[in-house]
Amino acid sequence: MASNRTFTMIKPDAFAEGNSGAILKMIEEAGFKIVAIKATQLSAELAGKFYAVHKERPFYNDLCNYMSSGPIIAAILEKDNAVADFRTLIGATNPAEAAEGTIRKLFAKSIEANAVHGSDSDENAQIEGSFFFSQLEHVK
Ligand code: TYD
Repeated sequence: MASNRTFTMIKPDAFAEGNSGAILKMIEEAGFKIVAIKATQLSAELAGKFYAVHKERPFYNDLCNYMSSGPIIAAILEKDNAVADFRTLIGATNPAEAAEGTIRKLFAKSIEANAVHGSDSDENAQIEGSFFFSQLEHVK
């Protein structure tokens, strides 16, 4: 994945509450182009693989159970400076600390059920996009 791309998920809380459309609208209005998208549901095992970097953290098991608790939307997004600009758009991990107007401030329920994922580096954007999408499933 090129360095002008990032990867996102709309997490189970936001999907279940019918906020996917509003979140995707904010993403597009912020200048991101959706170049791949799907609705799916992770198993706890796959969620564990996705979040393997956190496997020693105390919240890891709860996070894997939560992320596999219902459907999600996975998407690859394109924009100049995509990774950093998307992290700004979603806001801090803990919604109590997220800036006004950010997606997490508007839609997150808690530090765990925090509405959206955004890759934290170009390298991880590439790895995470490839976790969900084949070459045939995204715009070149
Ligand atoms: P992290 O990579 O630190 O945050 P971000 O999603 O903002 O990059 O953590 C990954 C996810 O783990 C986070 O979105 C929600 C969950 N999490 C918890 O459930 N409890 C915590 O204390 C932390 C730090 C994260």
